[in-house]
Amino acid sequence: MANSNLTNAKNAKNDEFYTQYHDIEKEINAYLEYNPNVFKDKTILMPCDDPEWSNFTKFFAQNFERFGIKKLISTSYAPESKNYKAVYQPTLFEINDPQFDEYKTVKNGKIFTLTRDKSGDGKIDVNDLEWSYLEGSGDFKSKEIKKLRDESDIIITNPPFSLFREFLSWIIEADKQFVLIGSMNAITYKEIFALLKADKMWLGNGFKAGNAYFASPLSKDYADGVYNKETGLVKFRNCCWYTNIDHGKRHQPLALMSMKDNLKFSKHKDIKENGYQNYDNYNAIEVSYTDAIPSDYDGIMGVPISFLDKYSPEQFEIVGNDYEVKEGKLPEIVNLNWKGKLDRGYINGNRIYSRILIKRKK
Ligand SMILES: C[S@@+](CC[C@H](N)C(=O)[O-])C[C@H]1O[C@@H](n2cnc3c(N)ncnc32)[C@H](O)[C@@H]1O
Repeated sequence: MANSNLTNAKNAKNDEFYTQYHDIEKEINAYLEYNPNVFKDKTILMPCDDPEWSNFTKFFAQNFERFGIKKLISTSYAPESKNYKAVYQPTLFEINDPQFDEYKTVKNGKIFTLTRDKSGDGKIDVNDLEWSYLEGSGDFKSKEIKKLRDESDIIITNPPFSLFREFLSWIIEADKQFVLIGSMNAITYKEIFALLKADKMWLGNGFKAGNAYFASPLSKDYADGVYNKETGLVKFRNCCWYTNIDHGKRHQPLALMSMKDNLKFSKHKDIKENGYQNYDNYNAIEVSYTDAIPSDYDGIMGVPISFLDKYSPEQFEIVGNDYEVKEGKLPEIVNLNWKGKLDRGYINGNRIYSRILIKRKK
């Protein structure tokens, strides 16, 4: 349910999902635990973040001194350019500012920067953010925002879901470090999988129990179980963090049983009853559950995409995915035809599951 609701959001181009403060805190702490100086002397850009809404900006502004950040830049997208058109009401903070401009407040994006103790209260925090209108809408693809990208070291945000692919390639072309929220489905996109396979990007530490909660002006349109009346938030199970900054979890190997022990003791009935099946057309075994990966199998294994959340590059190597098999890019390919008319994935009953092909490292 939750997954298909994220797809609906993408189809309807609802890009207004606001990330929770504690989710950001939990994720960012994982990078700091691994390297306490990860943000020291860095310029951080948040290019889809209006501080009046964004907990990303608030979180990094509040921790500016503790993290040793050099400069924080946060830009917002003009209300009139957004896919979702709500009745727009500027905040009192903006209206009461001498810079307030009735035209620009809807047509232009805004830029907020943090570098110094503007208020003179002896600390640098959210109260020291300085702002002005951008020249344009704040579109991350514009020249104006590209310039900010080029001057920054790290890009951190939850970008618009409908533009995730474009957003990531915008970062990659500038060779920047990043921490982003995206849909897990993106793992199967060709360019994104290529980065994961080449170990140029990996999944972050992750949302608590895999549940991502967002505030959204359209939250009430979502089904019960996705929209929670009490909190006003929507819950997606299909979101993850993508990054090229190192963290501890990805260096922790998965604790796995041998093939013999799995066949005897696996909690999955079909593994105990049917064992590990070979694909018809590719020399690899199907492993439908990450926790049933046999620790001592040396051949290629097809595993669910959610495996990437547990992937440690010291333990496994990513050989490819089902797209590459279909396109004949993998040398071991025997037959391009994935069981007749269905053209990709591992087919179980009527469902097609995407697979990542892995091999254990010795
Ligand atoms: C998923 S929301 C996340 C907002 C914020 N980063 C957060 O996590 O709370 C993405 C935001 O990007 C904005 N946006 C959409 N298209 C954009 C574009 N081309 N350039 C910059 N921002 C865009 C949307 O209006 C929306 O506010």
